[in-house]
Amino acid sequence: MTSTIEGKRALVTGAGRGVGQEIAVGLAGQGANLILAARSQDQLEETARRIHAAGGTADVIVADLGKSDGISEFLDQLTERFPTVDIVINNAATVAPLGTSAAVSSSEWSDALTLNVTAVARISFALLPGMLHSGWGRIVNVSSGIVEHPTGMIGGNAYVTSKAALEAHTVNLAAELLGTGITVNVYRPGSVDTAMQEWIRAQTPDAATADLHARFHRSFTDGTLITARQSASSLLSRLEDSTTGNIWTVTVPS
Ligand SMILES: NC(=O)c1ccc[n+]([C@@H]2O[C@H](COP(=O)([O-])OP(=O)(O)OC[C@H]3O[C@@H](n4cnc5c(N)ncnc54)[C@H](OP(=O)(O)O)[C@@H]3O)[C@@H](O)[C@H]2O)c1
Repeated sequence: MTSTIEGKRALVTGAGRGVGQEIAVGLAGQGANLILAARSQDQLEETARRIHAAGGTADVIVADLGKSDGISEFLDQLTERFPTVDIVINNAATVAPLGTSAAVSSSEWSDALTLNVTAVARISFALLPGMLHSGWGRIVNVSSGIVEHPTGMIGGNAYVTSKAALEAHTVNLAAELLGTGITVNVYRPGSVDTAMQEWIRAQTPDAATADLHARFHRSFTDGTLITARQSASSLLSRLEDSTTGNIWTVTVPS
């Protein structure tokens, strides 16, 4: 059977490391032509190198999606260089700021919402005209299981708020686009051994984050984290699915 992914153009944000890197490499392995976005050029080049070494194609756009101007500059470049994008995996996110909410910097809180929600919406909206024209599109927004348990991350208010908003945005947009050939789904990637988890463990806990900090250390030392490749494979196995408005949760074969 021919893959519906083959020959499609796919954008992955946060493709320089972790889950995003493995999703990008996996999509390229299925024959998609990749566009890789994040701030760190060296990391994006490493993802592109892996894709090229396996015979795939990848272009890099360096962008800060946590700032309104950065999103605008990114979209200008993207739409100028690539008139159509068929698949978008909105994966870039930050877990910062962590800490007692009364002490958290309001600009950091707001930047987190910009990256985790506003950038996702603006990127998808910018790509919709092309997808509507071709009658086919796949949008996947990478969220977190924390939306199911908002009290499970005390001291991470920006992250919990943003991921809940992201899921509501996704399901609402999916309903709006029913029957157009464009699907919009959420992916919850599980607890993954990435730089994001490492960053949380490296923070100095305060009163609000002591439990959270201890839990993230425990899951690392207990060896319960999955690899970025395992998480990416779980998502990639669902991309042929033509259903929409789903909350997909990672599954790892035992
Ligand atoms: N790891 C977990 O256990 C876990 C659990 C639940 C959900 N998730 C979700 O899974 C996704 C991937 O997480 P991960 O663990 O792979 O994270 P990660 O290792 O920290 O990678 C995040 C990626 O996003 C990019 N990024 C961060 N800030 C950015 C900005 N301002 N503009 C553009 N790109 C930016 C990073 O590159 P630069 O820093 O170079 O920009 C990097 O490529 C996220 O949506 C996260 O919320 C992860």
